[in-house]
Amino acid sequence: MAKPKKRYICQACGSVSHRWQGQCPDCAEWNTLREDVPATVFSQKHDLSSGGRAVEFVQLDAPGEKLERRKTGLAEFDRALGGGLVPGSAILMGGDPGIGKSTLLLQAAARIAKDNCSTVYVSGEEAAGQVRMRASRLGLADAPIKLAAATSVRDILTTLNSMEPPTLLVIDSIQTMHSDTIEGAPGTVSQVRGCAFELIRYAKENGVALVLVGHVTKDGTIAGPRVLEHMVDVVMSFEGERSHQYRILRALKNRFGAVDEIGVFAMEGKGLQEVSNPSMLFLSGRETPLAGSAVFPALEGTRPVLIEVQALIVRLQSGATPRRAVVGWDNGRLAMLLAVLESRCGLNFSSAEVYLNVAGGYRLSDPAADLAVAAALVSALADKPLPTHSIWFGEVSLAGEIRPVAHAGLRLKEAAKLGFTSGCGPQDVANSSQLKYRGIRQLANLVDQVMASA
Ligand code: TYD
Ligand code: MG
Repeated sequence: MAKPKKRYICQACGSVSHRWQGQCPDCAEWNTLREDVPATVFSQKHDLSSGGRAVEFVQLDAPGEKLERRKTGLAEFDRALGGGLVPGSAILMGGDPGIGKSTLLLQAAARIAKDNCSTVYVSGEEAAGQVRMRASRLGLADAPIKLAAATSVRDILTTLNSMEPPTLLVIDSIQTMHSDTIEGAPGTVSQVRGCAFELIRYAKENGVALVLVGHVTKDGTIAGPRVLEHMVDVVMSFEGERSHQYRILRALKNRFGAVDEIGVFAMEGKGLQEVSNPSMLFLSGRETPLAGSAVFPALEGTRPVLIEVQALIVRLQSGATPRRAVVGWDNGRLAMLLAVLESRCGLNFSSAEVYLNVAGGYRLSDPAADLAVAAALVSALADKPLPTHSIWFGEVSLAGEIRPVAHAGLRLKEAAKLGFTSGCGPQDVANSSQLKYRGIRQLANLVDQVMASA
């Protein structure tokens, strides 16, 4: 018999290679390839066109049962889920270790349990006592959650099958689970996939909302949640800087709702607090205007969030290569913007170090932030503060033109609501707010405006 060919599976993305490589050719992660035993062909019957059972068809337009959503009661969690938990659905909750996934799920589970719905929380990482300690710290010690510390999927499913199915089942985390029918240590791709498959099947058959926690690790020592993305209905990502208080819950995939909604939380001494009005979150709240600071009205799904962009320019005396450092924005985009400011507006950044920071640990990806970044840079270069209570938005083209952006009206309205009095952005914006709006055509107009200001 021919020797079975070796194959290697990337623990981060699940792609298969036939030789070992240091870097995965698909997802470009390093040191993530592990040897895998290929599945043996159990059946000699290769012809699949007969011998099976008949599949039952139903009409698409047949009256079906309506999708009932269960609100968890944590409004920000429900919002990110698109309205609440769907029975029989599987949710993958990804995020860096220590970001607050267990805390969030314990809080959500407690809300549901207190609502007279049975909730099972299986922890593969912490002993039941540790989870109980966390619960009492969160003030949830009296929540009737069924708690278990277990890692064997066989034990878990045997137990669950002998009782009434719960409304919510949390598995924390899928990377600690292990199935005795599959070879390999917990956390390998085949274990993670196999365990998730069995748990998801249980959830679908019993109408249980299942949440699988999945850690994201950079070094690939455990299989990343990406190998599960196609198996689950909803992929959520819990993000934030560990050194900052704020956490954003985002849906990356949702079979039952939109993916552009976010939930915002603040990690405090007594767990995660909901932040229902995040628009002011990323402003520094300073009263005196400072050169190099501009406010950008960002949009998170349908929610406007005002964000402060800060720039610092340091003139170099010597001929050393000047540094450009960016936190919370794209490096390449800063280089582009500096090039446009130099070539189209006649400014000179060549002998200056440029630092750019987005306040509050927020990450900007909206191209509409270009104009706010440009305003911060010009203000820092000229050492002139921008007018207080003003906002800036618009995409900057390589020709130095200000291009229109989505939802300009919504951005202006939210800023006006929060006490901002003036705005600057692309031309031809329908402004129905109280704000004094100035549409500009060229980036050079912005430079003139900043230089002219007192
Ligand atoms: P945790 O939920 O254990 O993270 P994960 O499950 O994603 O690994 O959260 C861990 C961090 O949260 C921990 O470093 C301490 C912090 N924390 C608080 O600041 N306040 C709290 O009330 C709790 C429970 C945790
Ligand atoms: Mg945890």
